[in-house]
Amino acid sequence: MAREKQIQTAGESAIVPRHIAIILDGNGRWAKKRGLPRTAGHAVGAETFRKIALYCRDIGVDYLTVYAFSTENWNRPEEEVRTIMRLLNKYLHEAIDTMERDRMKMRVFGDVEGLPAELQALVAKTNEISRRYEGFQANICLNYGGRAEIVRAAERYAEDRLAGTAPEKLTEEQFSQYLWSSGIPEPDLLIRPGGEQRLSNFLLWQCAYAEFYFTDTLWPDFTPAELDRAIEEFRRRDRRYGKV
Ligand code: IPE
Ligand code: IPE
Ligand code: MG
Repeated sequence: MAREKQIQTAGESAIVPRHIAIILDGNGRWAKKRGLPRTAGHAVGAETFRKIALYCRDIGVDYLTVYAFSTENWNRPEEEVRTIMRLLNKYLHEAIDTMERDRMKMRVFGDVEGLPAELQALVAKTNEISRRYEGFQANICLNYGGRAEIVRAAERYAEDRLAGTAPEKLTEEQFSQYLWSSGIPEPDLLIRPGGEQRLSNFLLWQCAYAEFYFTDTLWPDFTPAELDRAIEEFRRRDRRYGKV
């Protein structure tokens, strides 16, 4: 399975993962270490995302999928949730203004209907603009849960079965078309900054064969150099897919 692609950089050839997924973790601790409110960490984390997304585009990654707000994150203090929603609002507004210049498409994975109305409108707008472009794509997981995604996919398949538009025998490939990530190749490399070594309900289906890279670096401190280190490590992995 040739999931990575060969790109030429300054005369040398290097494997670049086609799809990188990142769990944006450690914003709160980053702020706490500096005596700032947790929300200050989220604001800096959003800037880090912008930098890393553009870097991914520049080195030839096709898809970057980031976990920005989970279905479980609603259980945080109301004030923090409100601030995160406000930051997302600001971020999407800015992205809409700069997508063309940045040559960046965006798609949201998650239960968009559970987001505040204003955010829903911004998501619809970014989707519409993205349809006009080719090239690098960032996927933002908002109100996302891997289990919720699989359950919803099963419900949608059941609806299609009842309507007589879906096959009785389902392949993995066909099932994956019901996921939010439909049409997008699976992540090759999953990165979790912030020191925790767990998935926290992220891309459960899609990460079946992803290579994992964990680092203690807190997300706001994450740099292109750290991404390079993750990709270096990825290149040393032997992806066997069950073979010898
Ligand atoms: C990740 O950073 C951002 C979200 C989950 C919204 P955290 O807010 O989880 O930061 P830590 O893990 O508490 O440091
Ligand atoms: C995972 O981080 C969710 C996002 C980054 C959006 P959390 O900080 O919510 O995960 P746990 O609580 O450490 O598992
Ligand atoms: Mg966290």
